[in-house]
This record gives sequence, C-alpha cells and structure tokens, in this order.
Amino acid sequence: MNTLLRIDSSLRTEGSYSRTLGDYFIRQWQTKNPEGIMIERDVTRKLMPHITQETVDAFFSEIPDSENIELSDELINELYQCNEILITCPMYNYGIPSSLKAYFDLVIRTKKTFAGSSIPKGLLANKKAYIISSMGGISTETLNPLENHLTQLLSLMGITEISYFPLDGTVDQSRTGEKILIQQSEILKQLNAYATDTTSH
Ligand SMILES: Cc1cc2nc3c(=O)[nH]c(=O)nc-3n(C[C@H](O)[C@H](O)[C@H](O)COP(=O)(O)O)c2cc1C
Repeated sequence: MNTLLRIDSSLRTEGSYSRTLGDYFIRQWQTKNPEGIMIERDVTRKLMPHITQETVDAFFSEIPDSENIELSDELINELYQCNEILITCPMYNYGIPSSLKAYFDLVIRTKKTFAGSSIPKGLLANKKAYIISSMGGISTETLNPLENHLTQLLSLMGITEISYFPLDGTVDQSRTGEKILIQQSEILKQLNAYATDTTSH
C-alpha cells in the first residue's frame, strides 16, 4: 500500500497556485491509490521552529535533550512512513519559504536521514518525490532555483527520484490557465508512469 506525505508551504491558504495544483495531484493520486494513506504537513499553518546551537548539539548527542528534538523525530518518522512525497513550494525572495527551509533543517539529521560526513550517504531509500513550484517571474533554467535547492536537500537524504511540475509567471494571470493545464497533464503522465513502474517489480 502506498503512503504519500504532502508538504505544503505557501502562506496563501486561498488562491495559491501551488496548493491548488497540489490538490489536483492528490485527487489523481487518490484515484490511483484508493487504499493509499496520506500524511499532511503544512509548514505554514504550523510554522517550523528554527534550529539552534542546542538543537544541533542534541542531533549529535547520545542523549538528545532539546525541545526541537521531539518535533524532528516526528517529522523524520513521517518521512520513513511514506514512499512518495509531494512538496508544494512558492518562491519567496528568490528562495524556498523560510518555514520549509526550517523543516529541512529539522529533518536533515546525522544517523537519522544521512550518514557519513565528507561523502554523506542518504538513508531514505526507495522514495519518489514530486515538486510543485510556483513563482511570479519566469524561469528559463532546466531546473528553477526552487527545484534546484529542493533537489539538493532531498538528495542529501537519499531521495533522488524526483518529478517536477513548475508554474512560473503567475503574475501574468492571462497565461496561468494554460500553464496549469500543461502541468496537470504532466502530473497524470508521471503518476501513470510511477504506477506502471511499481507494479512491474
Ligand atoms: C513575500 C513574497 C516574495 C516573493 N518573491 C518572489 C521572487 O523572489 N520571485 C518571484 O518570481 N516571485 C516572487 N513572489 C511571487 C510568488 O512566487 C507567486 O505569487 C507565487 O504564485 C506564489 O505561490 P502560490 O500562488 O502558491 O502562493 C513572491 C511573493 C511573496 C508573497
């Protein structure tokens, strides 16, 4: 049975392009996985705390003692429970939302999600990730800055199978309808491809 972890990060709970495309993804995923389990983590509704020196010390300690450790354990547990991850992510000031960065600071943790130091090895194997990104401006890069950053963060934990659904130029609403349709079609293609891939094993 498939388990999907959905992580949302737009500060908009109404009218958000990334969340709306995320909702579409979920509807399609549920059609393909009627018995599937979904875990939701909204890093805007419940803002993630920043890590501190105390948190990092606790990450390396045999007897962790920090208020952030319990949350870190809970978030990492969600990552281990799922085999698919959907991240919806808007661009804020050229980067990912600060609460989403704080989320990754809490889950990228030695001996829990990666091992080694000079050449880290990710410990979260066999997981598939989907990234829905949105930005007001236009990106001409193969991977936009949000996708690049999230790919690095996920890869560090061993998640390297990633599909991307970018929505750029959201400031020009006359083009967004067309762009949404394109990404909806990409979502269907990727979900079909992944379903075929997992049933063929
Ligand atoms: C605080 C803030 C900062 C933003 N910074 C950028 C930016 O640096 N580059 C950009 O292209 N768009 C920027 N935008 C526009 C958003 O990326 C755009 O509105 C996007 O559609 C937001 O995602 P959402 O529709 O899922 O909420 C910014 C928006 C906000 C609210």
